Amino acid sequence: MDKNAKYLDPNLDLEKRVNDLIKRLNIDEKITLIRGKDFWTTNPIDRLEIPSFGMTDGPLGVAWHSSHWGKHTRFPATIGLAATWNKELAYKMGEVLGKETKLAGRHQILGPGVNIIRSPLCGRNFEYLSEDPILSSNIASELVRGIQSQNIAACIKHYITNNSETKRMKISTEISERAFQEIYVKNYMRIIKKSDPWGLMVCYNKFNGIYGPENKYILKDILRDQIGFIGHVTSDWGAARNTSGAAACIKAGLSLEMPGMLLGRVLTPKKVQKALDAGEIVEEDINYILKPLLRTFMRVGLFEQEEESYLKVTDIPEHQDIAQQIAEESMVLLKNDSDILPLNLKAIKKIAIIGPNAKKKFGKPFQGGSSAVIPPRFITPYNGIKRYVSKSAEIIDDPKDADITLLIIGLDHGGGFFKTLLFKTEGDTEGSDRTHYGLPQKQIKLINETVAKNPKTIIILIAGSPIDCSDWYDNVPAILNAWYPGMMGGNALARVLFGEVNPSGKLPVTYPKKIQDHPAHKSKKRFPGDLKEMKIYFDEGIFVGYRYFDKHKIEPFFPFGFGLSYSEFELSNIQSDKSNLQGKGNFTISVEVKNTGKIAGAEVIQIYIGDDECSVERPPKELQGFEKVYLNPGEKKTVSITLDDSSFEFYSEKEKKFISESGSFTIWAGTSSRELPLSIKINYLK
Ligand code: BGC
Repeated sequence: MDKNAKYLDPNLDLEKRVNDLIKRLNIDEKITLIRGKDFWTTNPIDRLEIPSFGMTDGPLGVAWHSSHWGKHTRFPATIGLAATWNKELAYKMGEVLGKETKLAGRHQILGPGVNIIRSPLCGRNFEYLSEDPILSSNIASELVRGIQSQNIAACIKHYITNNSETKRMKISTEISERAFQEIYVKNYMRIIKKSDPWGLMVCYNKFNGIYGPENKYILKDILRDQIGFIGHVTSDWGAARNTSGAAACIKAGLSLEMPGMLLGRVLTPKKVQKALDAGEIVEEDINYILKPLLRTFMRVGLFEQEEESYLKVTDIPEHQDIAQQIAEESMVLLKNDSDILPLNLKAIKKIAIIGPNAKKKFGKPFQGGSSAVIPPRFITPYNGIKRYVSKSAEIIDDPKDADITLLIIGLDHGGGFFKTLLFKTEGDTEGSDRTHYGLPQKQIKLINETVAKNPKTIIILIAGSPIDCSDWYDNVPAILNAWYPGMMGGNALARVLFGEVNPSGKLPVTYPKKIQDHPAHKSKKRFPGDLKEMKIYFDEGIFVGYRYFDKHKIEPFFPFGFGLSYSEFELSNIQSDKSNLQGKGNFTISVEVKNTGKIAGAEVIQIYIGDDECSVERPPKELQGFEKVYLNPGEKKTVSITLDDSSFEFYSEKEKKFISESGSFTIWAGTSSRELPLSIKINYLK
């Protein structure tokens, strides 16, 4: 061991260090580095003092099963984070994820999960962000920046088109080049360009017939050559297959096969050596995939770390405060007739808090799959509200006798790993998709019975996916969507219900009136896929989510971007600093926003752009930017959002790149994809 070796010097240029280390490693050592040692770590190389690199699951926090069975902050589900539309909060959550990953003795967190929410029924929607690549990439890149500010590697997953769970290990995504680029690649591309994630996880599924980890088109042509990703690529756990073997994965650009036991069966020393002997690969191919992994080792400071140590429990109030703040800002007020909310504590003597999700604790081993984070404690809705009202109101069981009833319903993570596996319990969970858009029948019955006993029944939804509300919407005065609000959820919920926090969450997904209205559900071929052929057809093309509803003028139940407040906001005076833009460059849209209500609150200003005339079919409008603004009653602010010429682009299959055409574009500003009171035109010149 040369103590003065360049690769050990953290002050030297990263690439010099990587190249130095590559030169020192012999071929056997290189081979042991590209496959894990066990479920969560890589093989150390004692001769060169390369420690093991450790990973833990995310993205809702540091997962229990991969952190020495540790307990950590359980955040709201990331679909809720996206519903905050708050980039600063995403960064703060990322920072905590980074800090707790480090405390858990790991170097990388396997998140954020960034697959586009293509269908309301995907089992993992709760772990993802949005149906829209701009919202998704803006939130995800802040998460990544926050995580990596702590010298912990993020791992964006599951690249790419793993947008449902049914047969995820076998199914092949069939998609047009334009849709692939304009929705799915764009999401990853923008995250990578904005935040340079050090790691990425490649999917289980096939992409146009070839499994992710051996798919040269997605891993090399798109990820490296088009996007310029320089981080390392990990296989999803057991995703590398023997179909084309070790050589195919190495040539495609897979840096690390995980895990190193049981499911990891492709980059074994024997198989890699065989591929070398047969001349299918050469040492330079191994260098090519190993370099990004070594780069991550350097970036997380693997060589500078002290003795490995870890905390079993992180119970840090500042971290939990951030989890609570996210929960508070994530909640989406979907209905509020006659301003029944916020509740007036002084006027309430008896409250009924009922429903299957009122006392349910989330965060049990493997509940929902690999995202299961077990927190040191969990404040259920029941406990949070009970504590909040304890001095002035009584909690009772029968809605009949209550001044107000809080009915807490929704989905769950399928009831725990084994129950899900054995009984195929339906819910928000890895490994399976929902088959129904509605609530379980029992819950619909419960709503109707409860409302019959007490018309002042507020519905609180705890779920990680859109839910059909059409059957019972008219019968209830108010609906609050709380997503999965995490370990502090009960406190957050109480503060929102009683008006200490004014709800400001906005839907990151469209809620269709019925599932058949949704572009991913026009046929079984599209979702869950043709299970005989083992193909899933993304035939809606670029018209994902609201893009489709707008194009076909279909009224959604709740539109993308929608969410009520206890206040009202008035938008006026839209301006663009430029009326013409030529070539590359920025332009700034400003809008005045006034809180015309009586309560302080926040509004999300959303900017959508549509091409007035184009040589190809385009969505009528697409989200391009947004900003959340906080206003006291009567206060007015000017919100400025700077965009660039990429706001006009689409993917040209002819030219094989993103292009913009000269002409006039309409820019809308508003508070949801269907509430856009202001507009202005801009001329773009190539
Ligand atoms: C999941 C990943 C997860 C990995 C390790 C896989 O089944 O798809 O999201 O990170 O397991 O637990």
